Amino acid sequence: MVKTCRSITALLLLSIAAVAISCQKAEAKTKMQKQVFGKTGNGQQVDLYTLTNKHGMEATISTYGGTLVSLKVPDNKGKVDDIVLGYPNLDGYITDKAYFGATVGRYGNRIANGKFQLDGMTYTLPKNDNGENTLHGGIKGFNKKVWAATDVSTPSTEAVELTYLSKDGEEGFPGNLSVKVTYTLPANSNELKIDYKATTDKDTVVNLTNHSYFNLSGQGNGDILQHQLTIHAARFTPVDKGLIPTGELREVKGTPFDFNQPMAIGSRIEQDDQQLKLGKGYDHNWVLDKTGTPDSLFLAAEAYDPQSGRVLDVLTAEPGVQFYTGNFLDGSVTGKDGKVYKRRYAFCLETQHFPDSPNHRNFPSTELKPGQHYHTMTVFRFSTR
Ligand code: GLA
Repeated sequence: MVKTCRSITALLLLSIAAVAISCQKAEAKTKMQKQVFGKTGNGQQVDLYTLTNKHGMEATISTYGGTLVSLKVPDNKGKVDDIVLGYPNLDGYITDKAYFGATVGRYGNRIANGKFQLDGMTYTLPKNDNGENTLHGGIKGFNKKVWAATDVSTPSTEAVELTYLSKDGEEGFPGNLSVKVTYTLPANSNELKIDYKATTDKDTVVNLTNHSYFNLSGQGNGDILQHQLTIHAARFTPVDKGLIPTGELREVKGTPFDFNQPMAIGSRIEQDDQQLKLGKGYDHNWVLDKTGTPDSLFLAAEAYDPQSGRVLDVLTAEPGVQFYTGNFLDGSVTGKDGKVYKRRYAFCLETQHFPDSPNHRNFPSTELKPGQHYHTMTVFRFSTR
């Protein structure tokens, strides 16, 4: 009897050890952390996924809005800081009007008068931008939706895949649009990749982007006017008073919009320039000098912060980038760590197709048809100097 008991105990101990070992193995495959962020007003659970790598970089993504809520990056002394603006809790994101870190869609930036034509049909969208135009997908764009998430990490990268089905007619847009956004952080390099895919069952328009607000000195640590910026673009799209492109592709040469050589963001921002006045600073789309196939990555912009030595390179497959200098931040928002976000405390580099493309035949098309695959990519790559 005693013998049988002993062998049963031994067997039990062995199987416990086996379970522990297999758990350890699973852990070695992915260390991605998942935690609950909170619940929306209608009780939907929102999660946070944290991607880390071997070089001290860490990206946290919320399933609410597919939002990048924090991005920790080392400076030239190895000190790690969070370099994107955001809120301390989910409520901040639910009431947010600035699109901090959000995945923006179905159509990033503006559509004039909330109207566009497709296949001879006129589609009407909500005018959520001063009652005049549609901004960033309408009243309840992709930034206000809870996305489904799957850990798709591999031994060499941590990655989270977010999916969302935007129903036919949502915010006025035609077609059921099935969207997939994947954030990937490789173990060995400091680059956060965002990969976007979409398919539709009816002709529609799509323009997806990420709306992170960067401050390479650390979020909330002053303005970004001393950051030096390069944008690889010979032209930009001038706007009217509603920030709608006029349709012109204007040369940047000889204007405050020329960032082909590194320039401090603040060096010309107050110049007496009609376009800067209309934008209350920079809030314009640059026409990238993109070469290669539509799918290939192009170095669109580089930002360098002399204070921390951090460098951000933005690579994209998109034809344009909206450079926005946080002109609407006014100190009314208190963000993470109790930081108050004042005017120009961050900049955005929103890779995109041009604003209001559905109403401009001379702009690259944003149409997506059934059977076609929307696929684009943007990489935020970090280094130090
Ligand atoms: C984009 C727009 C800006 C502003 C911000 C969000 O950058 O071009 O005008 O709406 O988003 O505040």
